[in-house]
Amino acid sequence: NANGVKAGKTRNIVEKLEESGKNCIILYGSQTGTAEDYASRLAKEGKSRFGLETMVADLEDYDYENLDAIPSDKVVMFVLATYGEGEPTDNAVDFYEFITAEGVSFSEGNDPALGNLNYVAFGLGNNTYEHYNSMVRNVNKALEKLGAHRIGDAGEGDDGAGTMEEDFLAWKDPMWKALQEKMGLEEREAVYEPIFGITEREGLTKDSPEVYVGEPNKMHLDGTAKGPFNAHNPYIAPIHKSYELFSVKDRNCLHMDIDISASNLTYQTGDHIAVWPTNAGEEVDRFMDVLDLTDKRHNVISVKALEPTAKVPFPTPTTFDAIVRYHMEICAPVSRQFLATLAAFAPDEESKAEMTKLGGDKDYFHHKVNVHHLNIARVLQAVGKGKKWSNVPFSALIEGINKLQPRYYSISSSSLEQPKMISITAVVESQMLPGRDDPFQGVATNYLLALKQKQNGDPDPTPFGLSYELMGPRNKYTGIHVPVHVRHSNFKLPSDPTKPIICVGPGTGVAPMRGFVRERRKMIENGQNVGKAILFFGCRKRAEDFLYEKEWEEAKAVMGDKFELVTAFSREGNKKVYVQHRLKERAKEINELIEKKAYFYVCGDAANMAREVNTVLGQILAEQRGIPEAKAEEIVKNMRAANQYQEDVWS
Ligand code: FAD
Ligand code: 2AM
Repeated sequence: NANGVKAGKTRNIVEKLEESGKNCIILYGSQTGTAEDYASRLAKEGKSRFGLETMVADLEDYDYENLDAIPSDKVVMFVLATYGEGEPTDNAVDFYEFITAEGVSFSEGNDPALGNLNYVAFGLGNNTYEHYNSMVRNVNKALEKLGAHRIGDAGEGDDGAGTMEEDFLAWKDPMWKALQEKMGLEEREAVYEPIFGITEREGLTKDSPEVYVGEPNKMHLDGTAKGPFNAHNPYIAPIHKSYELFSVKDRNCLHMDIDISASNLTYQTGDHIAVWPTNAGEEVDRFMDVLDLTDKRHNVISVKALEPTAKVPFPTPTTFDAIVRYHMEICAPVSRQFLATLAAFAPDEESKAEMTKLGGDKDYFHHKVNVHHLNIARVLQAVGKGKKWSNVPFSALIEGINKLQPRYYSISSSSLEQPKMISITAVVESQMLPGRDDPFQGVATNYLLALKQKQNGDPDPTPFGLSYELMGPRNKYTGIHVPVHVRHSNFKLPSDPTKPIICVGPGTGVAPMRGFVRERRKMIENGQNVGKAILFFGCRKRAEDFLYEKEWEEAKAVMGDKFELVTAFSREGNKKVYVQHRLKERAKEINELIEKKAYFYVCGDAANMAREVNTVLGQILAEQRGIPEAKAEEIVKNMRAANQYQEDVWS
């Protein structure tokens, strides 16, 4: 139907609660899956600790006119991520517009409108962005204004400070207490009740055609894939070319050209591409081993939701191996709460006590787990001292480990120049950390590196000892492919190409700026009149990590005074030189360009660089125009509001 809801599914929240016998609905607004994971955790805890009948729901799947008809013996929990510049996540846009609208009206016509509604709220945000947690703040305000009763405080988790998990844990206990009082809930000895039932399928093997073995898009591998390709349905794209832009001891930078010509995918310069990674073979093996799954890893199983409102997050029948390799974020930071849950299944009393301690003591956990970047299997190995954790129900793993998420990359090509070929520029780090004898490695970047090595037939395709099964065992393609989808962004060149642009992109922040410069260059080649592009690029050393050095020279040759590159090498002298220092040196010109309505772009590190660049621009305007800094900051703010100042940043 028009709303994209499957036939037979109700959009009526009250009806849904009634027919499923639930008294607590947890609605999530999620972009990359994190808010959804927290929502599931609340559902599980509510059920196991307090006997609440919980269900988790996507905000997009319901209508909100009858929020006022939810009886007061039920509770609605909102878990809301803020996205980009203070926007709601895609799935929460309709809800957000509805609830914050002036004169919103509800079906019952009560006064106050939501006087019956009990709610709980937690937000996920990033304090390096200006509109920190604005989604939960605004929704909370709107609900309060409508007379709804909040239980506990509205929590705020901060991804920017890296404290999301701890913020969540610190928020939820007082919230549960308040909810207990409000609803008269008794806390019970937490009993683990699996949400998923696992049955072995004797008659099937991993080679049976109906068994899902991890092919990222089954139809596609069968040659029957149809678009649209999106966050639910990746396109399996051939990699046209991949190479290293530089490679030093513990850092490489990859350039990849991804061919989308055989799909109906499109992109615009400045958009993002999502890469769907696969876990490294060695980490999958470690996980299988410590959980005593090695012998049965290829056994065929059916996974069924035992709860009518739960969803199995992968196709089934399938194998343990496929689930772990392609669907679980097994290398991510471990949640303290999850360790506490697993204590009940420890192989001996000593491990049980240790897990309980890790789960309950924030500082101890930090010291033992976090600083070494241990993943779940490594924690279990260390705590169990080599013993196998055979008692952990597989359902607990599906519930407690996040879904493997696609990673986003800023597209570094121009759609004007190459509409059917998407380039990415990705840094691959492998960090040595104290207390570990092997380096910590990122999931997607090392997967991309493995793809590149395989494609180029590099002599040692696994320099870090990681083996990858690159596309699942049913891969019929020749050549190297990667599952992707495109996400449209607001990071865009001015629609008037004669406007000058100032681009600040140190490190991989240069990615979309490359796209911008190439686009302007192409326009010049097409005989168009374009404004000047000035690019501030920073890296450690000219001879080490100077990205696209030759390309800039070529661009200069074509673009003449319409292009200028300004470099900041931070580790060449005895003083750090950063892009913002270079901006200051050019204060007069920057101010003049901005007076001529130049667009200002910043891409890369959200935590420090982007903020400092923002501050420096304010200082430049203040100095040059002889106005107070507060006034200059106001101007920068207005530039943002008018899209004259745009950021594409990540932490
Ligand atoms: P992951 O495995 O996801 O790890 C990432 C970090 O998480 C680690 O470095 C570590 O700090 C922490 N971590 C992971 N596991 C643990 C653990 N067990 N314990 C403790 N800490 C842990 N990147 C680019 O290179 N180029 C781009 O153009 C680019 N554009 C982006 C655009 C957007 C909009 C966004 C959101 C991000 C962009 N990124 C870009 C970043 C990119 O999406 C990835 O985050 C990055 O490549 C790392 O992914 P990974 O899977 O290799 O690392
Ligand atoms: P550094 O690592 O030598 O400190 C790309 O990563 C470049 O950005 C590097 O030269 C890095 O320098 C630099 N960089 C680090 N922190 C920065 C900041 N706060 N502002 C601007 N550039 C920064």
